[in-house]
Amino acid sequence: MYNDYFLQDKLIQRKQQNAFRTLRLPDAKIDFCSNDYLGIASIGNFHNINDLGINQRDNSLGSFNQDKILFTGSAGSRLLAGNYSLIEETERQIARFHDAESGLIFNSGYDANIGLLSCVPQKGDTIIYDFLSHASIRDGIRLSLAQSFAFLHNDLNDLERRLKHSTGTIFVVTETVFSMDGDYCPLGEIINLCKKYNAHLILDEAHATGVVGEKGEGLAQHLNYHKEVFARVHTFGKACGCHGAIVLGTQNLRDYLINFARSFIYSTALPPHAIATIARSYAIFPLMKEEREHLKYLVSFFQSANISYPKLISNTPIQVVIVEGNSEVKKVATLLQENNLDVRPILYPTVPKGKERLRIVLHSFNTIEKVELLVRLLSNKD
Ligand SMILES: Cc1ncc(COP(=O)(O)O)c(C=O)c1O
Repeated sequence: MYNDYFLQDKLIQRKQQNAFRTLRLPDAKIDFCSNDYLGIASIGNFHNINDLGINQRDNSLGSFNQDKILFTGSAGSRLLAGNYSLIEETERQIARFHDAESGLIFNSGYDANIGLLSCVPQKGDTIIYDFLSHASIRDGIRLSLAQSFAFLHNDLNDLERRLKHSTGTIFVVTETVFSMDGDYCPLGEIINLCKKYNAHLILDEAHATGVVGEKGEGLAQHLNYHKEVFARVHTFGKACGCHGAIVLGTQNLRDYLINFARSFIYSTALPPHAIATIARSYAIFPLMKEEREHLKYLVSFFQSANISYPKLISNTPIQVVIVEGNSEVKKVATLLQENNLDVRPILYPTVPKGKERLRIVLHSFNTIEKVELLVRLLSNKD
């Protein structure tokens, strides 16, 4: 056995904090934790693409034999042998869907954020980001040579205070739907501040993709602010039920990323079957109105329910119940698990001490009866 004693200390520390992470295989419990908001990953692309009335070229699968797609793999980085027409057609399809000039697909949302944020802001520039931004945003910023400052979560005064003291080209980064709190950013106000201080806005729409808006177009486009945003990141690992992400912006931004984003340049392209799945999810998003309506209904039901623990205010499928302390939150999650409800605890140090929580994700395929059961279990504290 290899003597890796130098790993021990931090692992023991994690166990002492009651925060040791382990991998779990799925069981047949009711899903209240995945990012599969519309059931595309678990149930499949069950809507008929033909219902959309789009032609084969438009849905970008037309010139491809779908059987062949399933059996072909990746042959290298997009800049070498890994590029192919389906991936470029899909980029154009998604850019059209989101009313953007251009788009570039990355292998994951993590790659998209670190690629974009590490190469666009330069030395002497300033990045201002929401304190609750996802780890991939933070890691991208850490890789950048620009100076960076966090502003308090959704706090416009703090953002403006930071903007006043910024130098160089200024970038503001935030999420439209926050992954841990489930709330929206105050987009209109942020756009106004960006205009006032000549800052460029970068939005992570990971949790809004497929869910927010008439056809799942995301918050910026839904509110018609998308033309004022420098870059939008839409990820495919949530409602799309697949993997990867796209950065939307100008053709110049696309060219720039192809030249300078290291997570794009030095990584093997996604295989055609992944791209075909993404294209298909985008083709059926506009059809999934009923699913989005049902989700809205579950969200408002859960928000207005009386339970024994404090809830965060959230109008999105991400619902948060605060249960202080790692042991306590694990205890409540175990009770829910024993009742066949798959709800996971989010522990310190992933969230600050005292903010340990149950992160409950509602889905279009969850029934009201199961949400009622969840509410009942969370109402009997003792
Ligand atoms: C807000 C946000 N951005 C980016 C990512 C990373 O996306 P991916 O899982 O595709 O790497 C996530 C995933 O958890 C996320 O929640």
